[in-house]
Amino acid sequence: MVLICLGLEGTAHSFGAGIVTDDGKVLSNEWDMLKPTHGGIHPREASRHHSDLGPSIIHNALEKAGINYNDINLIAFSRGPGLGPCLRTTATMARTLSLKLDVPLVDVNHCVAHIEIGCLESSFEDPVTVYVSGGNSQVIAYAGGRFRTFGETLDIAIGNMLDVLGRELGMGFPAGPIVEKIAKQGSNYHSLPYSVKGMDLSYSGMLTAAKKLFSEGISIPDICFSVQETAFGMIAEIAERAIAHTKKQELLLTGGVARNNRLTEILEGVSERHGVQFHRVSPSLAGDQGAMIAWNGILQFKAGRTIEISDSQVLPKWRTDEQDILWRA
Ligand code: ATP
Ligand code: FE2
Repeated sequence: MVLICLGLEGTAHSFGAGIVTDDGKVLSNEWDMLKPTHGGIHPREASRHHSDLGPSIIHNALEKAGINYNDINLIAFSRGPGLGPCLRTTATMARTLSLKLDVPLVDVNHCVAHIEIGCLESSFEDPVTVYVSGGNSQVIAYAGGRFRTFGETLDIAIGNMLDVLGRELGMGFPAGPIVEKIAKQGSNYHSLPYSVKGMDLSYSGMLTAAKKLFSEGISIPDICFSVQETAFGMIAEIAERAIAHTKKQELLLTGGVARNNRLTEILEGVSERHGVQFHRVSPSLAGDQGAMIAWNGILQFKAGRTIEISDSQVLPKWRTDEQDILWRA
């Protein structure tokens, strides 16, 4: 008998419901994103978005998968890291469904889910992972029972840097894809802070410097081009060092910023130089969505882990390396 898991994702401004079977088939993956009209994401507005739209997104996911509530064997939810109000709203929906359907509940670390959905898609067994999104920029590898963070941003995440810069330059949200498109028209490189500290990165200086270039009249295409080349070069450097250090044979690119073709090209170059396999998670599974939560729920359930509702309080600061990865042990 196949096992069917419904995964709910709601760590930030997106709410997603994904349905995945234990043989790794994604039956459906529905989501919706709250786009801020001005400024950044407001946690309370995002959580209201999730409570307003969540039930219909779940309904659509069931319909697309061609199943009923009673066919679900397992409920998984993103327990953290993320924005408290958004996490709590999502967890409440997951607990309610688990009780009502009388099926087990599994808590999922959002960052770990981004890695494992990439491994499912690529059949990679043990990659160095570059996980880049609006809230995270990390180079991760499995060692000693956990996903260890080999390097990460010391201040803002790369996606957030692109989004804030885009806002300053008058682009819509999210700005990452717009920056990518406009960067293709740029060709003059303007120097920006290349800030790699050991295995860690820093992007806040680059953001300030890029805004300064704008105030000095440098063209937007040239700014976008320069930002991409510098920011992605920094990631490539630490990814390369992580490969050399761990001697792993696979390089995985995941998270919302994995949709970027230029970053993909640069990391492909890294993997060729080191003779390792490369996979970029496909656009529909790269960003925040429920299928990755459902798949991680299945991995954990099969390794014997479920959670009682009374223990399922959310963990807004749950780090990637704070979970024992039972299914890889
Ligand atoms: P997390 O909670 O994992 O940090 P998130 O809430 O930021 O995730 P994601 O969907 O994983 O959500 O990532 C969204 C980010 O990806 C945004 O910052 C967006 O600008 C960026 N992004 C999307 N497409 C591209 C692209 N083509 N190039 C660069 N950045 C992109
Ligand atoms: Fe994410």
